[in-house]
Amino acid sequence: MAGVNVPKEFSVKPIFNKQYLLDGELKEWKGATTDVYSVIKTEDGQNNLGPTFLGSIPDMGEKVAVEAINAANKAYNRGKGEWPTMSVSERLKHMIQFVEKMKLHREEIVKLLMWEICKNKSDSYKEFDRTIEYIVDTIEAYKNLDRKGAKFENQEGVLAHIRRGPLGVVLCLGPYNYPLNETFCLLIPALIMGNTAVFKPAKHGVLLITPLLNAFQESFPPGVVNILFGRGRNIAAPIMKTGMVDVLALIGHSSSAVSLQDLHPNKNRLRLVLGLEAKNPAIILPDADLTHAVKECISGTLSFNGQRCTALKVLYVHESIVNEFNELFSRTVDQLTFGMPWENTFLTPLPETNKPQYIQDLIQDALQNGAKIMNKKGGSLSDNYSFPAVMYPVNKKMRLFHEEQFGPIIPIIPFNDIELPLNDMATSDYGQQVSLFGQNEKHLGPLIDALANLVCRVNLNSSCQRGPDVYPFTGRKNSAVGTLSVYDALRSFSIRTFVATKDSSENKEILKNLLASKSSNFITTEYLL
Ligand code: G3H
Repeated sequence: MAGVNVPKEFSVKPIFNKQYLLDGELKEWKGATTDVYSVIKTEDGQNNLGPTFLGSIPDMGEKVAVEAINAANKAYNRGKGEWPTMSVSERLKHMIQFVEKMKLHREEIVKLLMWEICKNKSDSYKEFDRTIEYIVDTIEAYKNLDRKGAKFENQEGVLAHIRRGPLGVVLCLGPYNYPLNETFCLLIPALIMGNTAVFKPAKHGVLLITPLLNAFQESFPPGVVNILFGRGRNIAAPIMKTGMVDVLALIGHSSSAVSLQDLHPNKNRLRLVLGLEAKNPAIILPDADLTHAVKECISGTLSFNGQRCTALKVLYVHESIVNEFNELFSRTVDQLTFGMPWENTFLTPLPETNKPQYIQDLIQDALQNGAKIMNKKGGSLSDNYSFPAVMYPVNKKMRLFHEEQFGPIIPIIPFNDIELPLNDMATSDYGQQVSLFGQNEKHLGPLIDALANLVCRVNLNSSCQRGPDVYPFTGRKNSAVGTLSVYDALRSFSIRTFVATKDSSENKEILKNLLASKSSNFITTEYLL
């Protein structure tokens, strides 16, 4: 790819970030730093064409990692800290303050999303806006949750005041494909429930967190949120080894989740909130509306170049319609436009430098094992892109059948017996979602019953997706641990805890006095407005 012309409004100046947030202070990092580049090539001013230099971030290690977990642990203070014992309404004020400050950085963050992870303009705006909405909705959901706990129950002579309390210290690690949204969908509910956290941004999409450092510092008490920069193995690994982590909140690969868990010396202390990889299939039945199925499969397989955990990563098409489907699908793929993120094309560069080669390797392996590239442009390579390749027929000998490609390559498998996709799904390591295309309710009904027990969301004549964020987002097997939605995330980052007392006049008197004096933030029947 030749160097690109960057319209003035989308140009960026390098950010040399040395700041990190530890124990309420924005500190300056004096050690080594890592340069951050965009794969988008531009000229450097001296006629040299190359990846665009975006700035640098601290390359931190064990010492500061341990300081950060100590700070989070101190702020939690075995449950006695200011944050975990604060009244819900006060905690919400801090969160509202944060979200108001965050809104001011929309343009900066969106621009960095485009440069760092090459997400197109409208999806970058969507990621930012969706995150703001998520925080606002989380605040409302917590009010609702709190209102439900603002009462006493009386069962079998025992009075109980049941609420949800924090779990402790959270280590929060997000993915590069949604470096803002998915990370904050962990961090925000974790914080709002009274936990304290250490947060390390993803490898790509890291500079875009830097405009928010001040907002975090100004909005939360010291140690409640600590933000570090560097490699996971240098930061997350030593943190896990301390044994101080109560919750590992990670969106990423199951192998990273397993190796981090293995480092924790007290596994029963460790709660897991994990969003992991998936290989979501689409099943296209003989009576599917093909034009519609193709449209949904295009967005399902190739939105953000297939770099979504919810992407459709394998298409099972009934033999009776597979030729027609392949023809229409391949033609539509070849019509997709590739360009720079700010040009708002559907296809954009791949932010990981090794990804185009990886896609090429998958193509070669599939070709050697009997598949063909069905679309004319399939696999054509440029500096940082491999044009989407439609591969058919795919079988179990191919890497493409087993690996989560997380990129622009689409395997198609023909079937004449529905047991084939059902068996593949049952034996797969993953179980997030499925897309089912068809019309006849007599066929769809029993299939839906079986599929709902293999995955956690059956999308009828629709591509797979996480949203709307109020719906449960989870998976079976290696696809997730715990459930995330605005409401479920609050539950995932908390535990039911309660005060109980024998029903006697003396105890009732004490409870009345506790309520009247407001000496406890836990025992309160205040209805949050
Ligand atoms: O990477 C996985 C994301 O949770 C997908 O979210 O379906 O909204 O793109 P999405």
